[in-house]
Amino acid sequence: MALKRSTVCVHGVDAAFDNTGAISVPIFQSATFEHPGAGKSTGFDYARSKNPNQLALEQIMAKLEGASEAVAMSTGMSAIHVFVSLFKPGDHLITSEDLYGVTRRIFFEICPKYNIEFTAVDTADLDAVKAAVRPNTKGIFIETPTNPTMRVTDISAVAAIAKSIGALTAVDNTFLSPYYQNPIELGADIVIHSGTKYLAGHNDSMSGVFITNDKDIADKARWYAKTYGVTITAFEAWLSVRGLKTLALRMDRCSQSALEIAQFLKTLPNVTEVYYPGLPEHPAYELSKRQARGFGGMVAFKCKDGAVAKKALESVQIWTYAESLGGVESLITCPIYITHLDIPVEEREKRGISDNFLRLSVGIEDAEDLKADLAQALA
Ligand SMILES: Cc1ncc(COP(=O)(O)O)c(C=O)c1O
Repeated sequence: MALKRSTVCVHGVDAAFDNTGAISVPIFQSATFEHPGAGKSTGFDYARSKNPNQLALEQIMAKLEGASEAVAMSTGMSAIHVFVSLFKPGDHLITSEDLYGVTRRIFFEICPKYNIEFTAVDTADLDAVKAAVRPNTKGIFIETPTNPTMRVTDISAVAAIAKSIGALTAVDNTFLSPYYQNPIELGADIVIHSGTKYLAGHNDSMSGVFITNDKDIADKARWYAKTYGVTITAFEAWLSVRGLKTLALRMDRCSQSALEIAQFLKTLPNVTEVYYPGLPEHPAYELSKRQARGFGGMVAFKCKDGAVAKKALESVQIWTYAESLGGVESLITCPIYITHLDIPVEEREKRGISDNFLRLSVGIEDAEDLKADLAQALA
């Protein structure tokens, strides 16, 4: 029976891991596993290679993304590091110019040391993507919606460009989660999640997941993860599996409140611009409706000036001024101070990310309380 995603979130683990009838997969806090005989294995040998809680998380994530393979890792950055390890010196990749700052650091500060070169373009502009293609282009990595300016890329169109040149398409699907968007079903080869965000969902755990339909790519990803030592631990995987049970409820609630908050922000005199794909004036409103089932809980906006933004960060009471996103607690941040600190100032400014630019991760509190708090903080 083909199950709906909200059911998979609750019942997506296939294997019976013990015979007690436990409803929640127990935490297998073991670094090593007994071999049943010479050269024999229960399927688990050493926790850095694979552990049962990791497997449970991978089973759910593969199903949620409509894929055959998932590899769970310690963080989203581990999954991105493993992704770049699939390439070799001399390869070229194209990526979204608006990217999580630390992803950008891997692509533009670490990869060049290994002679892997990235070109950043606005991947929402398909002509710009085509123009960036070189004879040695082997991959396209996109974030959509992007962190933090909420630009949206047409996943099918970019995947078609990549296929035409024999390159891989990878999508960082962190912002919408597999409940709202499934890039593999739209033609992408690889999906990456920072599970720290919506998957675990409670701002209390860190994880990453690498998903693909290609067994060979998945085997390579597993090999790199266990070699780098970035396999997820049992407890973190358990937290993610527990968090995923309520993913559908949380995403719908965050998304509904985010739309209300985006509309409300537009009415505030100290707010000059609001970026949310669920607003009909967003340039990718129609595209977002086509390729995703919801708009998500992330909203960005510009204040009249940096002083208004600074005051807002320091006077919110229910919102917490903190980085990260996707948890039940609503968070507010100014990307230039932390998450996007590394991006050269001219580049940031070109995209409007300055001291008056704030990013919200809408949680599950009452939307009226969240709006009232923003109104007083932005007054
Ligand atoms: C879009 C996106 N991708 C990847 C990451 C990295 O994830 P992690 O912090 O789990 O390593 C983040 C972290 O904020 C992110 O926002």
